[in-house]
Amino acid sequence: MSSFQYIDNELHAEDVSLSEIAREYGTPTYVYSRTDIETAYNAFDGAFSEHSHLVCYSVKANSNIAVLNLLAELGAGFDIVSGGELQRVLKAGGDPAKIVFSGVGKSELEIRMALQAGIGCFNVESTAELELIQKTAAELDLVAPTSVRVNPDVDAGTHPYIATGLKKNKFGVSRETALEMYRHAVTLNNVQMVGIDCHIGSQITDLSPMLDALSEVLQLVDDLEEEGIALEHIDLGGGLGICYKDEEPIPMTSYASAVLQAMGKHEHRLLFEPGRSIVANAGVLLSRVQLLKDNNENHFAIVDAAMNDLIRPALYDAWQEVSEVSPGNNRQTWSVVGPVCETGDFLAHNRELAIEAGDLIAIRSSGAYGFVMSSNYNSRNRAAEVIISGSQHFCVRQRETIEDQIRLERILPATT
Ligand code: LLP
Repeated sequence: MSSFQYIDNELHAEDVSLSEIAREYGTPTYVYSRTDIETAYNAFDGAFSEHSHLVCYSVKANSNIAVLNLLAELGAGFDIVSGGELQRVLKAGGDPAKIVFSGVGKSELEIRMALQAGIGCFNVESTAELELIQKTAAELDLVAPTSVRVNPDVDAGTHPYIATGLKKNKFGVSRETALEMYRHAVTLNNVQMVGIDCHIGSQITDLSPMLDALSEVLQLVDDLEEEGIALEHIDLGGGLGICYKDEEPIPMTSYASAVLQAMGKHEHRLLFEPGRSIVANAGVLLSRVQLLKDNNENHFAIVDAAMNDLIRPALYDAWQEVSEVSPGNNRQTWSVVGPVCETGDFLAHNRELAIEAGDLIAIRSSGAYGFVMSSNYNSRNRAAEVIISGSQHFCVRQRETIEDQIRLERILPATT
């Protein structure tokens, strides 16, 4: 059950009312529930307890170091896609040996940093990248644990921007290329092929594409084994969907039992890279209604959060629940929009809400791909982030100031 519940007609995060958070830290503010993050992680981890596995939380979903630290304390591994994410995980106390490094365009510098940190596995996405890893590891006299990301060419049935497992997408390599890469890689001195991975997309609510991808991967694992190339792990990526509105997510236990059944006799360690399913519903974006405005038949609630704070509605036409923190009685249909100068700056359309100017709203399911995708567009300071734990609240990222924003900028010297 979510820790975001109404108590005496006021929305709370665990035992703290969101009005108290707004009083203390201002708005807009991202508010996360520690309990909900930990519960989601433990449910994922626990569902696979009967098989050797590692849950590598996908840092891109929410990379606040306090969130990473909570997960590291629970024993999580991490899925990273940049040198920046690597540094965050290390700063948060994550175990480098439990890191997998994904992404189609790792730079030489990032590969070097990851090798020096002693990460668990490079998820390689092209022959050119394999060569770069071999070269970099040779220079450092190290051996890079490596996996090939296979593109199983299955349709994840999700938004086209977040589908990654189709032949036409930039991700992974075909089964034929993967076979060639493994055959070549075993001849290299500074890479060691330890696994195979795939990730077919995000916000997936249908089990069958997941299982199709797994069966493709298992076929390849068997073919490789026949050639004498034995792998230690199979990384199934992330992608499990959540409920934003009325979607029916795959229950964790069904996912686990289907995967374990499909594994059959394969005893390989299983790796997973969930992001959204761990943190999305553990967070809200708390915002205040600045003013109400009627333009002909349209009613606009202009709030102090905008597309720069939460871009999912503008970018993917994503639907996220908007809740009143203290619901009133006078319900009306509103478009909830921000102050940014774009018509695309909306958080929600056509919502029945009982709100007045000055009221607080919470945009639900904002714990994943919320703050991490925020920007300074319109020179807006990025929001604060707060974690609630029982009756306690902790600011885990201060609200930015304009000084923070312009600190790295310079005016040209005067012309002489
Ligand atoms: N592993 C890889 C290689 C990925 O590319 C991703 C997400 C994940 C794991 C985590 O997937 P998850 O469990 O969170 O679905 N910004 C978009 C989502 C982009 C997902 C990108 N890759 C959104 O707001 O919906």
